[in-house]
Amino acid sequence: MNEKILVLDFGGQYNQLIARRVREQKVYAEIKPYNKISCEDIKNAGYKGVIFTGGPNSVYDESSPHFDPEILNLGIPILGICYGAQLLAFMAGGKVQSAADRSEYGNTVLYVNDSPLFEGVPKKSDSFMSHTDYVSEVPQGFTVIATTDNCPAAAFSCDGKALYGVQFHPEVTHTEYGKIILKNFLYNVCKCSGNWKMEDFIEKTAEKYREELKGKKVLLALSGGVDSSVAAALLYKAVGDNLICVFVDHGLLRKDEGDFVENTFKGKFGMNLIRVNAQDRFLRKLKGVTEPEEKRKIIGEEFIRVFEDEAKKLGKIDVLAQGTIYPDVIESGKGDSAVIKSHHNVGGLPDVISFESIAEPLCDLFKDEVREVGVKLGLPNELVYRQPFPGPGLAVRVIGEITKSKLDILKEADAIFREEIDRSPEKIETNQYFAVLTDSFSVGVKGDARAYGYVLALRAVTTDDFMTAQWTRIPYETLERASNRITGEITEITRVVYDITSKPPATVEWE
Ligand code: XMP
Repeated sequence: MNEKILVLDFGGQYNQLIARRVREQKVYAEIKPYNKISCEDIKNAGYKGVIFTGGPNSVYDESSPHFDPEILNLGIPILGICYGAQLLAFMAGGKVQSAADRSEYGNTVLYVNDSPLFEGVPKKSDSFMSHTDYVSEVPQGFTVIATTDNCPAAAFSCDGKALYGVQFHPEVTHTEYGKIILKNFLYNVCKCSGNWKMEDFIEKTAEKYREELKGKKVLLALSGGVDSSVAAALLYKAVGDNLICVFVDHGLLRKDEGDFVENTFKGKFGMNLIRVNAQDRFLRKLKGVTEPEEKRKIIGEEFIRVFEDEAKKLGKIDVLAQGTIYPDVIESGKGDSAVIKSHHNVGGLPDVISFESIAEPLCDLFKDEVREVGVKLGLPNELVYRQPFPGPGLAVRVIGEITKSKLDILKEADAIFREEIDRSPEKIETNQYFAVLTDSFSVGVKGDARAYGYVLALRAVTTDDFMTAQWTRIPYETLERASNRITGEITEITRVVYDITSKPPATVEWE
């Protein structure tokens, strides 16, 4: 069995990051909300250690999240981080105080003493702090193992009971030795051996589904996105031809993308893939529609109808497979993997197609782990490291009414822009880049003659989470090459502009 660590969630903003950092150390970690698991469950689940996360509250608030103090007596090592450390101190009988003059935010110098938690950490280093409350008195039997200028107990421990609290955030990169501190907790304190490996995950998951899905017909809606592609490759390893992938090509994909998906899964892997070329059907539904949200709604609904029509032809389906990943499960707030993600392209399918159960082979993995699995299963890098692409596709990048000719123009221009970015001699730090066909027209001169054509916008953003984003500083030379090629190779475009709006106030997509 895999060793596992519980990340007990008290509402902090870095909780997923903590779990990822643990997994980076080759120890499996799962996140559970503090009010969705009992002390008894924790005891029985065989965790090697528990991490209390941060949280926005103060331990003395009546409404603040607390936990059964019995957890301190289970003999399971605990690491409290920020609010988690204050809670640990409070539960063990220490004192927490609130004082504005003690609050720290940002990089703070940390002084550490000898402790199994700080093996390999210099006496003085940088840590990241974000707190107003602080532990003013450690509980009886605990000792202070680190301080800062403002914080008398920046870390404390009771080695005998393997209980540790740190006021700073070891999970963020600003804490210089954060990785080592987490590693020390996992290996020195929890005595983990580090047996979480992707190869094992792939073998074990394939084996599990080989058993569970024996003789069953499994249906998966393949979008060509990372999650559904990796789910398909993994399930194919498990059940082979019993997996049927339906790829609805709505004609709103980027240039040659439909063929690429088909060649990869049908050609390279030899999978049972049905490609439905439904561009005409989607264009008919979208005729005359200009309002962005209406476009999205129509595409979402039509996608389901097309998928449903195809599924009906297949007869009885036993299992519906989905590419749900761990952040989707956590964000659903329920930790219940059977919840269908509402923003998923196939949301709503269960109402129209009957099946016995759902298979979600990636529901324990973070995005970077999903990518690792994809690479190990032999999926092309182009697919595994694909930039995000909205479900409604180019429909939200053709401003105004969508027509086949507008889509064709955009596909060409977008392909040129992406090619120029990819071949740029300078390294460009960008996370999403694409072209937008505006509904503005502009006068130009082409071959000594007056031309009147589309204004095309180029967009590139640099971001961690897509909630906020900076416009990418693309070198002028790259922009110039893209612009020259686009106006030179595409007759219908007379002008190219670059979007220099960050998010907020703009969104990444234009519609
Ligand atoms: P916005 O435009 O909201 O985009 O700043 C943030 C990220 O989400 C993607 N996006 C979508 N993805 N369906 C999707 O699956 C959509 O309707 C949709 N709209 C935006 C966008 O490409 C960016 O990565």
